[in-house]
Amino acid sequence: MLASIIYTAFKLHAQPPSNVEIIDSTQLHLTDEFAEDNLGPRSNPDGSVTVVLVAHRYGFSPNHIELPAGVPVTFRVATADTLHGLHIPGTNIDTMVVPGYVSEITASIQYHEVVKHGSLDADGKVTVPIYCNEFCGLNHHFMWSRVTVTRTPG
Ligand code: CUA
Repeated sequence: MLASIIYTAFKLHAQPPSNVEIIDSTQLHLTDEFAEDNLGPRSNPDGSVTVVLVAHRYGFSPNHIELPAGVPVTFRVATADTLHGLHIPGTNIDTMVVPGYVSEITASIQYHEVVKHGSLDADGKVTVPIYCNEFCGLNHHFMWSRVTVTRTPG
């Protein structure tokens, strides 16, 4: 057993599945990426989207984002204070946000799945909550935000 662990770790370069990237949670506002003006979604040249979020007691910044369905979306999330979680119903986006680290998760939001969990508006856009799913203090259950999912043409 030990031999196989050593073999996979060193020979096959096996490592924990998540990305390990450290950040000073007390200085987020002084970084480029997590500064207030730079938060939220941005489109990449290949059509994918990167979303930068800050989790804090008790909410996410920004507190409402809009994302297209059916394209790869990468969330990069850091906490400004304590342990939080990030969960979007109807997707497999679900991660812990640990002080001192950047959490990164990539998924493609499926319109027909989020529509079961959100509210549909007249334009066919679905709004679902973004929940914190790690207990982070007295108002943990009030910590949520919203994502409006737009159907991609075709
Ligand atoms: Cu943040 Cu619970």
